Amino acid sequence: MLYILDTADLNAIRHVNEFYPLDGVTTNPSIIAKEKTDFLKLVKEIRNIIGEDKMLHVQTTAKKAEDIVSEAKMLKEILGGEFYIKVPIDEEGLKATKILSEIGIPVTMTAIFTPAQALMAAKAGAAFVAPYVNRLDNITGDGVRVVEEIVCLFDTYGLDCKVLAASFKNSEQVHKSALCGCHSVTVSPEIMTGLIKHPLTDVAVAGFEKDWQGVYGDKKIPDLI
Ligand code: E4P
Repeated sequence: MLYILDTADLNAIRHVNEFYPLDGVTTNPSIIAKEKTDFLKLVKEIRNIIGEDKMLHVQTTAKKAEDIVSEAKMLKEILGGEFYIKVPIDEEGLKATKILSEIGIPVTMTAIFTPAQALMAAKAGAAFVAPYVNRLDNITGDGVRVVEEIVCLFDTYGLDCKVLAASFKNSEQVHKSALCGCHSVTVSPEIMTGLIKHPLTDVAVAGFEKDWQGVYGDKKIPDLI
């Protein structure tokens, strides 16, 4: 399972990168716009924080295949490292994906809502497909079922494309996606930090502290060695 952070909030990225086994960061135009700051400085700073080895997915704003390819080349040149261009699925996006995969710029095909879209994206050469789990759930669809069917299709046809499940609103959606063999998830900082929380963990840790202090007071292990 790859854990990717779906935000351009630099403080949140710094925090999660320090404490969690983070594999990368995804953005989209809405996520970038939310920060209301200089685009280039922002994405460069994300790269600085996570380093060259972690994935950085940045979404194109172009519509025509040739322009998507040109934006991808520019961003790859500037951001370097493990860079992925996110491309929404449509005919121009597929054409761009075929070109980009041939020249070695990996594509994350995004705004995926059906297994049929995902299969086409994978055939065009996408490295990842991003199905939007919560947006499907919101219209009484079954986001996790869509993730499961995509995983199954990629296995059936031996396609070298990973599922990057996206658009989560709670930990349960993430956990159910993991259970069906989803390769990676992109989540908000709130969901990432929520994945390790449990009230019984807090109770257990408080109990350890209380019992220790009852015998050793404020002394720590190094004080006793
Ligand atoms: C990631 O690829 C998507 O852009 C993102 O997860 C969408 O999330 P939202 O439905 O919360 O906007």
